[in-house]
Amino acid sequence: MIENGFCPCSNFGGLNEFQDSGFIGRQSELAVLTVALDHALSGRGQRVMLAGEPGIGKTRLAQELSNRAESMGARVLWGRCYEEQGVPSYWPWARAIRSHVRNSDPEQLISEIGAGAADIAGLVPDVKERLPDVGPPSQMESPEQAQFRIFDSITTYLKTASQNQPLVSARVRHSN
Ligand SMILES: Nc1ncnc2c1ncn2[C@@H]1O[C@H](COP(=O)(O)OP(=O)(O)O)[C@@H](O)[C@H]1O
Ligand SMILES: [Mg+2]
Repeated sequence: MIENGFCPCSNFGGLNEFQDSGFIGRQSELAVLTVALDHALSGRGQRVMLAGEPGIGKTRLAQELSNRAESMGARVLWGRCYEEQGVPSYWPWARAIRSHVRNSDPEQLISEIGAGAADIAGLVPDVKERLPDVGPPSQMESPEQAQFRIFDSITTYLKTASQNQPLVSARVRHSN
């Protein structure tokens, strides 16, 4: 990127805004994330993993990206979880989806969630509250098939929703 003389942050008015919010440094990481955001906003979804020691600044960096994404019209879905026993399967995904469900009116929810409503209602009870006619998910399959179907339902839902508004999903794992 830099070799081509292109600074990906220039689209967004430079880094002063990050510094104004008390955010310090991390310019190369922000540049990578900003390019990924730019791609996502133009319809090419990206996945970026932030890895490092506890306290090194992963969550704060994700928050800076989240602020930027929201200012550019995206909806950010946060899914946080702690590394503890007893955390249900898919919990970070469930929390991220729940925030979108709660921000959707019933018409939008029906049109976006489609045939995956029963699967997603099993993870996010808010779906059932909003759409009381949704039945239970099918039980006539192996655990592997059920897992595959849940993944497919989540993917389809988020993909459809992102056609109405760009989505950034931030899943944060906190260690104790
Ligand atoms: N780039 C930064 N500028 C200012 N403060 C930061 C920065 N990165 C991290 N911090 C602060 O350091 C602390 C630990 O950062 P955090 O993002 O929670 O770490 P991690 O998620 O990697 O465990 C937080 O109080 C956070 O606000
Ligand atoms: Mg963190």
